[in-house]
Amino acid sequence: MITQEEYGSRRNALLEQLKNDSIAIVLSALPSSRSNDTEFPYRQNSSFYYLCGFKEDNAALLFLKSKKETKTLLFVQKKEPTMELWSGKRMGIDAARSLFLVDDVYGFDELESKLAEWVKKKSVAYYDFGMTNPVIARFKELTKKFYAHHNIWHLIASMRLVKSHSEITLIRKALEITKEAHHNALRFSKVGKYEYELQAEFEYIFKKNGAYSDAYTSIVAGGNGANTLHYIANNRRMQAGELLLIDAGCEYEYYASDITRTIPVSGRFTPAQRELYEMVLGVELEIIEMIKPGVKRSELQKRAEELLTIGMVDLGILQGRVRKLLSTKAHKKYFPHGIGHWMGLDVHDEAPYKEQNGKEIPLAEGMVLTIEPGIYIDENDQTVPERFRGIGIRIEDDILVSAEGHVNLSEGIAKGIEEIERLSQTY
Ligand code: GLY
Ligand code: MN
Ligand code: MN
Repeated sequence: MITQEEYGSRRNALLEQLKNDSIAIVLSALPSSRSNDTEFPYRQNSSFYYLCGFKEDNAALLFLKSKKETKTLLFVQKKEPTMELWSGKRMGIDAARSLFLVDDVYGFDELESKLAEWVKKKSVAYYDFGMTNPVIARFKELTKKFYAHHNIWHLIASMRLVKSHSEITLIRKALEITKEAHHNALRFSKVGKYEYELQAEFEYIFKKNGAYSDAYTSIVAGGNGANTLHYIANNRRMQAGELLLIDAGCEYEYYASDITRTIPVSGRFTPAQRELYEMVLGVELEIIEMIKPGVKRSELQKRAEELLTIGMVDLGILQGRVRKLLSTKAHKKYFPHGIGHWMGLDVHDEAPYKEQNGKEIPLAEGMVLTIEPGIYIDENDQTVPERFRGIGIRIEDDILVSAEGHVNLSEGIAKGIEEIERLSQTY
């Protein structure tokens, strides 16, 4: 759990970075329409959530800073019994005032008049440049003349890069649930079952353990489907002798997990699958070993590309000299994506990879990133030995950068060949 004190200290850390005579706004997410008058389940804007942990819509945080004082104000929906009958209880102003450690709480319907009053006294305005929202539009309008505009996104996103102890605890909890689901998949995957049946198992295990949902739509890709990176159709039957690539992780109390395992439908890897799998796993382990403060993600990417290219030459998938293949980017055909990404409140966490001056941000204690090498060989790729065609393999873990190096937060999720085969059979 994240305490109100922790949210308060995040807001103070943000205030510290604001310029004098400034006004800053951070808004809740807009509800997302599904069709006609139905909506998708509401999920809070992660950066707003990061600063207060409030899950309702029609909410805003306003920061006022002058030389003399700073103020943090929260706007929430007022209680309205007729609305609450349809869409659920609201916290309301009084309860919000006693829960949140802010200077004051107002009704969301007062936001516009308060903004009009307060902007007059300021000369710097902060908002999220990437957000389109009627309130933001109004805020821009009000501050159009006489104001310097700054993007608050970078400030909050940079704070989100380094996770606190309580954030890591929530990611660990998400991963415990995700582990149960991936281990269940070893038992559940069987020739003749549909991929969506397994997707349903994942969603069931996530929900029954109190996870809000999946952190992204699960990829359950048998055989050649694994060679479509964002395969989410999940509508094919599992075939004997094929591999099944499962990229699935739950979101627990707003924190994501992101795990890929590639397992044999029939419980045993074929020799070709085994060779390719061992190669990818070896690369994954070696890249994880590199992780420590000071290392750059681009160094991990470069080394992963080198190792995968060496592995592909050894297996006869690529022909030629490794240096040449790398310089001509021949390997990209089979490893077209990044080695990993930040993870936290979002699966692809909204945190910067570069400083505002363009310099790459090196790894530091408390950051969490995925490591996910993969090799994808289309079934029709005539340039590759036949035995490897139609195989797609990715192995993905979630890694915490520690003072000493790293901790693999998903260590316990089976990925060794013997372990996968044993668990597939003993369940
Ligand atoms: N599941 C999305 C990703 O691995 O980046
Ligand atoms: Mn990922
Ligand atoms: Mn993934």
